[in-house]
Amino acid sequence: MSVTARVPAKVNVQLSVGGPRPDGFHDLANVFLAVGLYDEITATPANAITDPPRLTCSGPDADQVPLDRTNLAVRAAELLAAHHGISPAVHLHIAKDIPVAGGMAGGSADAAGALLACDALWDTKTPRAELLSLCAQLGSDVPFSLVGGAALGRGRGELLTELPVGGDFHWVFAVADGGLSTPAVYREFDRLATGPIPEPAPSPALLAALRTGDPHALAASLANDLQPAALSLRPALADTLDTGRAAGALATLVSGSGPTCAFLTEDADSAASVARALRASGTCRTARTATGPAPGAALLN
Ligand code: C5P
Repeated sequence: MSVTARVPAKVNVQLSVGGPRPDGFHDLANVFLAVGLYDEITATPANAITDPPRLTCSGPDADQVPLDRTNLAVRAAELLAAHHGISPAVHLHIAKDIPVAGGMAGGSADAAGALLACDALWDTKTPRAELLSLCAQLGSDVPFSLVGGAALGRGRGELLTELPVGGDFHWVFAVADGGLSTPAVYREFDRLATGPIPEPAPSPALLAALRTGDPHALAASLANDLQPAALSLRPALADTLDTGRAAGALATLVSGSGPTCAFLTEDADSAASVARALRASGTCRTARTATGPAPGAALLN
């Protein structure tokens, strides 16, 4: 018997970043939108007590995924087992489709999926509020991977308020060769800061654009404070953004800490043609289309 959870990627439609806190994190106003690129995490009972849980991974980028305790999915299974005082005897398998280290919360998605799948496999029936608190211990973006849809994240991004969305938005994601380290991008953000950094705040125009589902209004209000830092570490991303803009995207931005670039388009046809232009341009490894909002982590069986 095994249990599989499916978990979406995310794009940050607004990432407003404050100054560094004493604990090294940054206070955020982080507007997450889940999009329909998914990882699937399967939990199967392990025959013997395995410590740490065994992890395997499949998919085109599987060779870039760590299979030891540095993988958040392994830590999620261990944390849930410790929370209930049981053994983390499990084999986790990740069928990976979300870009690795790309700023689309793929690692966080795997952690949320591992929690949900193990909770079902072990029949531990963890209440939702406890699951969310375990998610927050694993990483700032993990609670959103569980919740999906759209949400405003405050604090370091883990304190969520779900947001209403009035329609489907059509996106293209340009996947770069190689990832970017999130801590390195935040360090670069600190290095580039010139004066006092204002308190992060959600944009009323952006929240209204999500509510109405109007892609032109959303395009006018997309914002990512980490984008200059990601571009400073990876200047070639400017060519990727220019290519998508020239191909007809309504707006372009780096997704989270990058290096994946996100392009908001008018409709599905426009998304397909922007993706074609990006693939042909040689400015990215590949381009994918997806719509958002997408549902959060869910069991498939
Ligand atoms: O929470 P998570 O483990 O995903 O964060 C990874 C790193 O990203 C942190 O160690 C920190 O360097 C940076 N970070 C930050 N402020 C946040 C979220 C992440 O500085 N709000």
